[in-house]
Amino acid sequence: MVEFSLPKNSVLKKGKSFPAPEGAVNIRRFEVYRWNPDRGENPRVDGYDIDMDSCGPMVLDAIIKIKNEIDSTLTFRRSCREGVCGSCSMNVNGKNTLACIKAIDDYKGTIKVFPLPHMDVVKDLVTDMTNFYAQYSSIKPWIETQTPAPDRERLQSKEERKKLDGLFECVLCACCSASCPSYWWNSDKYLGPAVLLQASRWLVDSRDENTGERLDELEDTYKLYRCHTIMSCTDTCPKGLNPAKAIAGIKKMLVIRQQG
Ligand code: SF4
Ligand code: SF4
Ligand code: FES
Repeated sequence: MVEFSLPKNSVLKKGKSFPAPEGAVNIRRFEVYRWNPDRGENPRVDGYDIDMDSCGPMVLDAIIKIKNEIDSTLTFRRSCREGVCGSCSMNVNGKNTLACIKAIDDYKGTIKVFPLPHMDVVKDLVTDMTNFYAQYSSIKPWIETQTPAPDRERLQSKEERKKLDGLFECVLCACCSASCPSYWWNSDKYLGPAVLLQASRWLVDSRDENTGERLDELEDTYKLYRCHTIMSCTDTCPKGLNPAKAIAGIKKMLVIRQQG
C-alpha cells in the first residue's frame, strides 16, 4: 500500500495558548493556523480563548480582536467587513467561507481557522493569489466589441440584464476554487469554478461581441473540461452562487455551437 507523509517541515505543531482575561464568563476557543516563512519553523496552531461579551458576532470580529488585543503578529486579509470585497476568505471548521459574514454562533464549540486549502501560504491566513488572478485576467474580464461605439452607452433590455443575475455578484474570493478537487490537482491548467463563473458572466452579456473567441479559448481539455460536476464549489460559495451551473452553461453553449 502506498503511504503518504508530509515533509517534516510542514507537519503542524501545537502552538501557544492564550487564556481568556480573568473574570470572563462567555468564552469561545479559536484555534488559528500560524506560519511565518521568515522564522524557519513548522506551522503551528495557536489557541485563543476569547471573551465573547467584548467581541463582535462574526468570525472576522474574533480574528480582528486577536490581532488588536492579543497577538498583533497574526496576519490575514480583510477590507470591507460586509462580504463585498472578497478578501477575508479562509477555511473555518473545514469549510471555505468569508469570515466577515460568517456568524460565530453558527458553530458549536471550538472554531478552527485555517487558510484556504491547497493554495500556497504567504503567511498565517494569507494565501498566494497570483495564479488565481492570472487565470482571471486570461478570460479577459471586460466587454469586447467589434461594432463602433454608439453615441451613448450600449443598452441592454431588462431580460438581457437579468441573465447576469447569479454571476455579477461574485466577489472573487476563491472559496469555490479552493474547495474544488479538480482545481487542487490541476490549478496550473484548469481554470477552476470562480474563473469559469466569471467567464460565463461575459459570455452571457448581450453587449459583448466576442462570444466565439471566448468559447474558442475555453474549449480545452484542461481549462474547462476538468470540471467533473462534483459540486463542492456551489456548496461552499458564501455568496450563494452556483459556479457548477455556470460551468454547465458554458459546456452547453459549446455543444450548441458544435451542432451549428
Ligand atoms: S462542479 Fe466542477 S468546478 Fe465545481 S467543485 Fe466540482 S469539479 Fe470543481
Ligand atoms: S463564485 Fe462564490 S465562492 Fe466562487 S469566487 Fe465567486 S463569490 Fe467566491
Ligand atoms: S472583509 Fe470584505 S468580504 Fe470579508
